[in-house]
Amino acid sequence: MNFPVITIDGPTASGKGTVAHRVAKHLGFHYLDSGALYRLTALSATRRGIALDNEDGLAAMARVLPCLFVKGHVFLDGEDVTDAVRAEAIGVAASKIAVLPKVRQALVDLQIAFRTTPGLVADGRDMGTVIFPDAIQKVYLTASVEARADRRYKQLIEKGFSASMKDLVKDLTERDARDTTRASAPLKPAPGAYILDTSDMTVDEAVHIVLDLYANAVKLST
Ligand code: DC
Repeated sequence: MNFPVITIDGPTASGKGTVAHRVAKHLGFHYLDSGALYRLTALSATRRGIALDNEDGLAAMARVLPCLFVKGHVFLDGEDVTDAVRAEAIGVAASKIAVLPKVRQALVDLQIAFRTTPGLVADGRDMGTVIFPDAIQKVYLTASVEARADRRYKQLIEKGFSASMKDLVKDLTERDARDTTRASAPLKPAPGAYILDTSDMTVDEAVHIVLDLYANAVKLST
């Protein structure tokens, strides 16, 4: 059960997903995109007509979420929703339901189940603080709101979605406020986490730093 875990927490669009995915690939580890679980819950709620403040209804649905992760694709009820869960509106809805403690609790077992051999890279908001407090290496990956809005803008345009920088900065600022001030598992660096500001960094540089941190942590633990 004690397979090594690297946690990479941070705000929306900080690049943690890309970095975490690359680190996992390099090490041959599993990858948990915990934000996708909140997005899937939000998408499923929207489709089933469950209100985003119906905590009990959302939690009951999240506990049996019919989701599947296969080779970078996300499925809900057997349908490939990889692009649908990335839509901005679903991100905003995910941030709203993520404040509800029963929804968070409902998704705990699903997240812990990703910890299998040979190891896991987990990305999210509370990976190091709540879900995997015994992680061998914890990283808090962040970047300025402007840098993050710029990255998200490029991602959305690339995927064929429309986007406005002004709206993105506003959305990110509001979402940061919601994620960091909520009572249940707020976004904050875990004790002992390495703070990595990637505003002026390439993905390659960030990946190398995380791999070096992990290699050092392994050396120290043996
Ligand atoms: O990382 P993301 O943008 O895909 O996450 C979507 C929302 O899900 C985010 O605004 C907050 C929530 N979330 C969370 O509360 N805890 C996590 N571990 C991951 C995501």
